Amino acid sequence: MPEQSGLIVITGASRGIGLALVECFLKEGHTVLGIARDTALMPTHDKLTTLDTDLTDPQAITHIARRVEKIGLPVAVLINNAGIQNAVDFTATGIDSEAIATQIRDEIMLNLTTPMLLAAALLAFMLRPGGTIVNVTSLVSRQPKPSAPVYSATKAGLASFTQSLRVQLRSEGIDAVEAVPPLMDTAMTAGRGSGKIAPETMATAIFDSIRDQRNTAAPGLSRRVLMLNRVLPELVRTILARN
Ligand SMILES: NC(=O)c1ccc[n+]([C@@H]2O[C@H](COP(=O)([O-])OP(=O)(O)OC[C@H]3O[C@@H](n4cnc5c(N)ncnc54)[C@H](OP(=O)(O)O)[C@@H]3O)[C@@H](O)[C@H]2O)c1
Repeated sequence: MPEQSGLIVITGASRGIGLALVECFLKEGHTVLGIARDTALMPTHDKLTTLDTDLTDPQAITHIARRVEKIGLPVAVLINNAGIQNAVDFTATGIDSEAIATQIRDEIMLNLTTPMLLAAALLAFMLRPGGTIVNVTSLVSRQPKPSAPVYSATKAGLASFTQSLRVQLRSEGIDAVEAVPPLMDTAMTAGRGSGKIAPETMATAIFDSIRDQRNTAAPGLSRRVLMLNRVLPELVRTILARN
């Protein structure tokens, strides 16, 4: 059980995996700060504070740090969950346009830069020992998805960052966990894929990994793909390319 007197900070909290995480931690009696651009549809709860902010805006980090300071609890868990996935075709006409450049910058900012900046900003408030930083990556961090090259690169970067952070923070008594969802039944995958798992299953896997001090939260297919990828990466690439 993560430290109950601490604050749980969750980005991308308004739907999908993030909302399931908010519900999971509230059910276990924790105090939660949920962050997204639009939190209007989130449940009201006396232990939930919401913050509407666009995480591609560099000012967002300062807003979050100020809110954490105002709440006044040590941060027990930071979950960098917010993410977007854009299809980007580098052979397309207009790939050099300012609109595509902005889209690429925003995707890198949200998926990779913001988790790094938020970790840096909230470390000052983190519970020592006993704090945990969770970064939500993807299987594409190991086997890139050709139609989403920017997304894949950000998730590979976030997976690498998590490993370095884990070693750096060990002496501080703070854990770093990588959460690797398989294909989820959320807005991000609407209209594609089959055999998707519920966000609640992923939230429970993340909660259990923090509680049991495990480095990785990888339920279902993710665990099997990660294991096979270590020994037979070419085979995994071939299988994933078929699906
Ligand atoms: N779905 C999958 O199959 C899958 C698989 C592997 C990894 N993942 C990863 O899991 C994480 C959660 O995915 P999901 O499927 O739950 O996605 P989702 O249902 O699309 O939810 C994304 C969340 O991020 C927030 N968000 C998006 N842009 C934002 C911005 N600029 N500023 C602040 N918040 C923003 C959204 O809220 P607002 O729109 O209100 O801002 C929403 O709460 C992501 O990092 C994703 O890459 C998902």
